[in-house]
Formats: sequence, C-alpha cells, structure tokens
Amino acid sequence: MRLDSRVRPRVTPFDVIDQFPEGWQEDIAAVAAEADFRDFPRTPFLSQEAADITHITRGRVHAVQVQQRLPWLYKLYRDRFLELACLGWGEPIDPAVDDRYGIVLNVQRGNRMRFECHVDSNPLTGLLFFTDHPAGGGELAVARNPAAVGVDEVERDCTLITPRAGRLIFFDGKTYPHYARTLVAEHDTRVVAVMNFYTRSCPESTTRPLGLNQHLFGDD
Ligand SMILES: [Fe+2]
Repeated sequence: MRLDSRVRPRVTPFDVIDQFPEGWQEDIAAVAAEADFRDFPRTPFLSQEAADITHITRGRVHAVQVQQRLPWLYKLYRDRFLELACLGWGEPIDPAVDDRYGIVLNVQRGNRMRFECHVDSNPLTGLLFFTDHPAGGGELAVARNPAAVGVDEVERDCTLITPRAGRLIFFDGKTYPHYARTLVAEHDTRVVAVMNFYTRSCPESTTRPLGLNQHLFGDD
C-alpha cells in the first residue's frame, strides 16, 4: 500500500508497534472479547449511511474500559501519539478533554460485522490497528468525495487503508465519509483503537454536536 500525502484525503501513517508493551496481544484480545457486541442504531448528526440502513452490527469497547484495562494505550494517546499527530499534521493538536470518547476500541468479529459509514465530529482522527487480516477484508474505506452517502458511493471512489498491527494513521474524518469493510474470514477478528483529536481552529468545546452525548451516554 502506498499512502501519498499530496492526495486527498490526506492520510499520515506511522508504525508504532515498538511502542507496545510486552503482552499487548493478550491484553487486546482479552478486552476485545468482552466488547459490547450488538446492533448499534445509526449515529445522529454523523451517519452517512444510506436511508434504508437503521442499524449496524459491531462491537465497541467503551472509553472507561480502555482506561481501566489498557492504561498503557490511554497513556500513549495522551503523550506519544499526540506528538505524532502534531508532527504528522503540522500544527498544534489537542486530545479530548472529555474521557467518555477520547479513545475507544471498535471490534469486528466474524464476517458479518462492519463499521458505520459516517463522518467524525472531531477534525482529526487517529486509528491504531491491532490486527492483520491475511484472508482480506476489514479495510478502512475513506471517500474522496466529501458528499458521498452510503457504502456504495464511498466504494465508487475511495482511499483504502489495510489494517496492520502497529499501523497508526491520522486523517480528517470530519470532511471525508468513511467506513470499515467486513472481514473475509469467518473466524477473524479486527480490533482498532479510535482516537479523537482537535485542532486550535476546530476545538472540542465548539465542534461536538449538541445532543450527541445525550444519544451515546444519556447525558450531556
Ligand atoms: Fe470515524
């Protein structure tokens, strides 16, 4: 895979596998196995799914579990990965102040789950892949057309990012709709950490849609 930073959407990759502690695979596998697997309703404000899609089946490890069970990952989000975000994006970057959504894990188990086609509320997103998929599938598809709606329109013209354990990417998911493809193998599992970052021109305090926390957490 070649990632060309001159092409939009701009995707900045790093390999950070040497930052992981010993036993990281066991840590990640144990936490991912306990993910909240269910049909998630489409996300208000941010969903770019086609009109007939009401739910998407997937797994989520919520932010509080990441902080409690993977403290090394939470720490990396707030220091080393933050430094890489600034380096990669070429401007000052801030992590989320609100710990309810700063860093979570998305988990796809088997070959029927995918991740919702959506845009992000934050101006810069970091994705850190923890799994490889030799049988294929699980690619992140990022539309080149900011107006793309639904998986079919994204697929028509997109940048594909192949998951690889230790690959960290930064991209503007607020502008470019994106989703994660299903896996090919029936017994495969895809685990990715999703990190919210903010720029000074698009800070957390003003960019998060009113009502999104109510939908996700039951309060604002
Ligand atoms: Fe996203």
